[in-house]
Amino acid sequence: MRPDTGVLIAAGGRGERMGPGIPKQFRPIRGVPMLLRAVRPFAQHPRVRKIIVALPEDDAQAPPPWLNEVAGERLTIVSGGPTRADSVFAALSALDAVCSIVLVHDAARPFVTVETIDGVIERAAAGVAVVPAVRVGDTLKRVQPGTARVLETVDRSDLWRAQTPQGFPRAVLEAAFASVKPAARASYTDEAALIEATGGRVEIVPDRVGNLKVTTEEDFLLAEYFVTP
Ligand code: CTP
Ligand code: MG
Repeated sequence: MRPDTGVLIAAGGRGERMGPGIPKQFRPIRGVPMLLRAVRPFAQHPRVRKIIVALPEDDAQAPPPWLNEVAGERLTIVSGGPTRADSVFAALSALDAVCSIVLVHDAARPFVTVETIDGVIERAAAGVAVVPAVRVGDTLKRVQPGTARVLETVDRSDLWRAQTPQGFPRAVLEAAFASVKPAARASYTDEAALIEATGGRVEIVPDRVGNLKVTTEEDFLLAEYFVTP
């Protein structure tokens, strides 16, 4: 199989909810930077032709050397934008024409497995926009804004949490971006939402809870526990 997949890594954020210090994507989890953990499974995947990493502007000027070491000539670094969607768009714009499948992955998800990647590529290659997702397990409460008052219990039976990498036939993703004005991109928190908004069909593939997203300091501690030394 000829490699036909381009991977866009969203690593252009500042990690503000993690608190002070270097942006979270550069922080080591048991010695290995989160971004390196997030890129490595794609760099080792035979179907992946290109990996475009969107970094904060300063870091894009002076990227960490381990990025080159892990992905070699398949790697391209671009400057991200003010929002995640802008960073993803910048990465998509730098992708070689030859990649017909596009995966979009958060640098903040360092534990993606090859099984998840395979499942997403399989559906995207079949022409489907696809989101790896996990069933919501907790009981959900709607709370009155600004108060502690529970208004209701929300039926969770058909709710899933969207993870990444999300996978797309390239033409579908490009058409979705083209249909939204650049200023409106920020209101879409993932690429699947862009496609849903334009009436396109999106499917889920069941994913693992372990493909967690590191947002806060507490998530970071969880991530360190998660790695077997
Ligand atoms: N991201 C990006 N470009 C931006 C903002 C976010 O590429 N302008 C990336 C982040 O680097 C991260 C992913 O999108 O890998 C998910 O975003 P999030 O977890 O919100 O990360 P940050 O925006 O960095 O964190 P925060 O919102 O706490 O500042
Ligand atoms: Mg953010």
